[in-house]
Amino acid sequence: MATIKSILHETRIFPPDPAFVEQANVSGMETYHALCAEAEKDLPAFWGRLAKEHILWHKPFTRVLDETNHPFLNWFDDGELNVSFNCLDRHLDTQPDKTAIIFEADDGAITRSTYRELHHQVCQFANGLKSLGIKKGDRVVIYMPMSIEAVVAMQGCARIGATHSVVFGGFSAKSLHERILNAGAVAVITADEQRRGGKINHLKAVVDDAIARGGADSVTSVVIYQRGAGNVQLHVPRDVWWHELIKDQSDICEPEWVNSEHPLFTLYTSGSTGRPKGVQHSSAGYLLGAITSMKWVFDYKPADVFWCTADVGWVTGHSYVTYGPLAIGATQVIFEGVPTYPDAGRFWKMIQDHQVTVFYTAPTAIRSLIKLGPDFPGKYDLSSLRLLGSVGEPINPEAWIWYYTVVGQSRCPVVDTWWQTETGSHMIAPLPGAVPLKPGSCTLPLPGIIAGIVDEAGHDIPDGKGGFLVIKRPFPSLARTLWGEPERFRKTYFPEELGGKYYLAGDSANRDADGYFWIMGRVDDVLTVSGHRLGTMEIESALVASPLVAEAAVVGKPDEIKTEAIVAFVVLKGSRPQGANAHDIAVELRNWVSTEIGPIARPDEIRFGDNLPKTRSGKIMRRLLRTLAKGEEITQDTSTLENPAILEQLKHPIT
Ligand code: PRX
Repeated sequence: MATIKSILHETRIFPPDPAFVEQANVSGMETYHALCAEAEKDLPAFWGRLAKEHILWHKPFTRVLDETNHPFLNWFDDGELNVSFNCLDRHLDTQPDKTAIIFEADDGAITRSTYRELHHQVCQFANGLKSLGIKKGDRVVIYMPMSIEAVVAMQGCARIGATHSVVFGGFSAKSLHERILNAGAVAVITADEQRRGGKINHLKAVVDDAIARGGADSVTSVVIYQRGAGNVQLHVPRDVWWHELIKDQSDICEPEWVNSEHPLFTLYTSGSTGRPKGVQHSSAGYLLGAITSMKWVFDYKPADVFWCTADVGWVTGHSYVTYGPLAIGATQVIFEGVPTYPDAGRFWKMIQDHQVTVFYTAPTAIRSLIKLGPDFPGKYDLSSLRLLGSVGEPINPEAWIWYYTVVGQSRCPVVDTWWQTETGSHMIAPLPGAVPLKPGSCTLPLPGIIAGIVDEAGHDIPDGKGGFLVIKRPFPSLARTLWGEPERFRKTYFPEELGGKYYLAGDSANRDADGYFWIMGRVDDVLTVSGHRLGTMEIESALVASPLVAEAAVVGKPDEIKTEAIVAFVVLKGSRPQGANAHDIAVELRNWVSTEIGPIARPDEIRFGDNLPKTRSGKIMRRLLRTLAKGEEITQDTSTLENPAILEQLKHPIT
């Protein structure tokens, strides 16, 4: 809990500008407090009111919250709806010709879809899926580049009641294989290739490799969107081109009405044990969180041009690309490429070109852009911006100040949004027309989110002392379970030690005298690398899967740009390598992990030892490894260590 100290010295406060307050959806602290009070007085009544106001129901619900089977909750459970209907059809009478998506490709080419066009695209594709025999309840894996088609694929699944599971395009064949198997997917939707930063990534070949690994007999169809030259191996009849599939399909597709609790999607995320968790979300509760946060936190207005830079492979791309912006009828930008191509001014140029008003990105992108081109924002006209957002990891106050002053020209509030794959939508974040901002703090919980900080026994911890971040009362957008693993869900998120009632987020946090939350980081063995969650166990398992490796332990080390760099301590099956040999093996192992999991998991550093530091009972002493990784002297007690001499071997990185 040492990292929090420097942050808590932060004393700058930025109250909202009166002009912003005046036009805000939630205007002033009194309005915010009134919403919180309404929720605290009667939580189900509060969410029930919002669900009626914001969702179009096919069959209205009569019950709001059923806690009988806690922690497996039911929200609005006798209601019926369709999420795609709520994102598309609802706009057809009011604003059919409004641009829904402005897509900018890696090379700068621009494609647009209006709400009417997007509706047609989704209906045609949904009919295509039906023609393949895909139906309500089936699982469909999506492995696609950022594109209008990726959104169409997700919305198409939602339209027919199929549960999608998007796998980030940077994951390896092995990771994709595991996810296909775990989901029992009947189809995979992919593209021939993906283009990012001028590089081409052959996605369909990865899908072929994944399916060829065996056990994926459930997959009867692979749909391929042609992004590039179309050079793929077609496995007929399994494989079908997207354009062939939709060719003769009608652009009308009656939505499949589903129950509120119908699983809209699962999304795999890292946990503290080896296997990724298939986080399962509902339909209505999830959608409600996406809509209310768009209005409260992003202060959405019909004239906005919204841009969330996240890939649809992550939850941020689900809630703030595919679902939230469309459900409220926004115009949004979707970007295929990377922030640094062709140069570090790409984001700023796109904000200028598309007149973006609300911009949402991750601290890791901000930090790398500060490093690569602090003056780039000044070259572009950023006067369209009115609100900036941050997500994925704590934003250090200096990066916050740069974002605020240089990008936002001291005019735009910065909303630092704390939430998770599991929570589905924002949990702790400022309502920008009400809450004064403190750089580095995600500020106050949203109305209806009852957050707290507790000790190991679930008792409240006084403000100013760090502890476990929990959400004490149910909220609609929380994941319902882990796909096929309800017990794991209960144990991971509602542990008995805390009384079984609180949702345990897995982060440590501190609350200051003003009630502001300061996130300190993960408490489990999960690393935050460039805003992505990676389990140390996953990387260790990948290393140990190499024929060279006997044992491995992975820890994080603070990194200016990526938040955490990955340091792997490795024991080889043979003797400890030296010199050039050690260098070569380290390179080989780093590439190995990249192939096993994906490039984001590639260790930044590998160190070899004859053994790992262990207690006499054989437990690896990770806290010592963390100290070594940071290059610090060991001051901790090493008396329980079986083999202290090992520490010397592990002190130095391989050069
Ligand atoms: O540690 C917290 C960090 O990201 C974790 C959730 O990761 P994931 O499920 O991949 O979702 C990321 C996008 C929502 C959290 O447990 N985190 C996320 N947002 C913030 C954050 N840490 C500090 N400040 C944030 N704003």
